[in-house]
This record gives sequence, structure tokens and C-alpha cells, in this order.
Amino acid sequence: MNVSQIILNWFHIYGRKNLPWQKNKTTYSIWISEIMLQQTQVKTVIPYFTKFLKKYPTIHSIATSSENAILHKWSGLGYYKRAKNIYKTSKIISSQYNGKFPDIFNHVIKLPGIGRTTAGAILSISYNYFFPILDSNVKRILIRLYGIKFNVYNKKIDDFLWKKIQSILPLHNAGKFNQALMDLGSLICHPKNPNCKICPINHTCTFFKKKFFQTCSIRNKILQLKNYWCIIINYKEYIYLKKYKKDSFWKDLFSFPLFTKRNYLINWIKEKNIIPVKIKQLQSITLYITQYKFTINPIFLIIKTNKHVKSEKDTIWFNVLNNQKVGIPSLVLKILHKYSYLML
Ligand code: ADE
Repeated sequence: MNVSQIILNWFHIYGRKNLPWQKNKTTYSIWISEIMLQQTQVKTVIPYFTKFLKKYPTIHSIATSSENAILHKWSGLGYYKRAKNIYKTSKIISSQYNGKFPDIFNHVIKLPGIGRTTAGAILSISYNYFFPILDSNVKRILIRLYGIKFNVYNKKIDDFLWKKIQSILPLHNAGKFNQALMDLGSLICHPKNPNCKICPINHTCTFFKKKFFQTCSIRNKILQLKNYWCIIINYKEYIYLKKYKKDSFWKDLFSFPLFTKRNYLINWIKEKNIIPVKIKQLQSITLYITQYKFTINPIFLIIKTNKHVKSEKDTIWFNVLNNQKVGIPSLVLKILHKYSYLML
């Protein structure tokens, strides 16, 4: 039996077939579920999906609502751009497709927030059309199954994987097969501890045979390392923040002053004639945001008078007890939160 048939047979017995979006399926409900499932686990999505469909049972109901109302329903699910794209898409479908979700791949893939995998998932799950998907679950399975080794994940590997998955996609069961792969990836072929003993394709899996599991933390882009020093200046219940320019990395958001070198930070303190009553280097923080790996080294400083660090243009004294409504990157909020016990 070929590998695709084995996966389909496994899905028939063990696959998830009673998820809310698998009942009373429409292209509309599949679309919403696929967008919600991007970078989010099934168990997290379930309550959001149910509430969303109740409030917005049709594309028309979204298109005639407002972006704010959609964002509100999305609150807590994260990656809010997805909600904005749903709103944009509903408008496009209303005006260009007569309110009906398109069933032509080239039309679907042009809609906001829909890439090749999401378009393939929507059309294969809705109509059983012959389109593969290549999400992180599928990538991981293929990499292990065929023993694909790589140091840096890049577009060439993606192209190769698309060809591979296309070549094993069963002609008459694309929808089920795509769902089966996603289930296999999330139920058995876990990133860290795959449960190979019960995997239906372990006998053909290169990594299983070699007793070697690639962790497969797949990033689509090469990681860029960014090392910064930041200064957290605390005066009473305030923290000094500066607004970064539109064309900078933070794009109009407020952040602690950031420096690429420790020396630049020290010089900045000296130039401003700041006299701290307490100064402390805090533990560095590492964060991954898209293709960046950030290491932030915070220096925490308490001052008794703020006359040297006056509020200049594009700077604020951010009130940690009663926050001003300004845009602050989540990385900065995380640092503020982590070290809030030191303040005041
Ligand atoms: N991730 C994206 N689409 C999915 C689906 N249909 N089932 C499970 N996980 C998914």
C-alpha cells in the first residue's frame, strides 16, 4: 500500500471528524476556520469559531459590520491582521463575487490573508479539489519521512516540498488527505517528541529508521540576530519612552531608547548628565519575532529628579499605573511587565 493510502486509512479511524467547522460545512465556514487555525491550535480556535459563526453567519453579515466589531470578536485570539483581512475579504466578495466565496484557485489566492496553503485547504476541504497544502505540520512530516536535511530553511526546500506533496496527493481524496496530514502532524508527528511507535507510516519514515528526530522548528526565513541595549529610566511611577520614526523598525511606536552597543547607551546617559540613584543591569531577554531573534539587554535606572530627561519632542513619561493610550510594541510591554516589580 502506498504512503498516501496508509495515511487515509489512519485518518478514517483516528482523524478528527467532529470539529465544529466539519459540521454543516460551507466554503464560508471553512474559510473562517482556516484563517483562525493559522498559527493557532485547534483547541484554542473551537470557542472562537463557534461564537464568531453565531454572530456572523454569512459573508454579508461581516461585510455590513465594522472592522472594530470584527476585531472585538477576535479579541484574545491574537494575530489581529487576520481579522482585518477577513473584513477586507468580505467586502471584496460582496462587491466582486456577488457575495459568494469564489471556487477558483487563482481568485481565492488573491484574497487578503490567503496564501497557497490556505487556498488549497479551503478548496480541497470544501470541494475536494486537487490542491495540496504545505503548512508546518506537513513540512515536518515530509522532512522526517524523506530524511531531508538542511542547515538553513530556505525557499529551495519549500519548492522541493511542494513538489513532493503534489506527487503524493491522492487524486480523489485531496480534502481528506490534507486534513489527515494536519491531524497526523498535530496528533503524532509532534515537533519535539513524536509518538513514532503509533505512527502509521513509521516503517517508511527515514528519521524513524535512523532513530534520529529532527526537531524541525521550521522558519520560512533565515533568522536575523538583533542585539540591543535598552535603558529603562524610572522616575516615580513613570518610565521614559521615545517614539520611533515611521521608517524605523518600530514604525511610530513608543519604546525605551535602544542602542546597538553598550557604549552608546553609557555615552547617552553621560551626555544627558543623568545621575541615577540606582543602576542595575537586568537579565537579557530573548524573543523571536518573525525572522528576527532579538536579544535585549536592559539597564535599569532610577532617578530622583527628571530635570535632565525632560519630555522632549517624541518622548513621553509613560505612566505605569495609568497608561497613556499610545502604541507600544509587545516586546516593550513584555519587558515593562517583567520588571514592573522594580519600579516606583
Ligand atoms: N491548521 C490549519 N488548518 C487546519 C485544519 N483544517 N485542521 C487542523 N489544523 C489546521
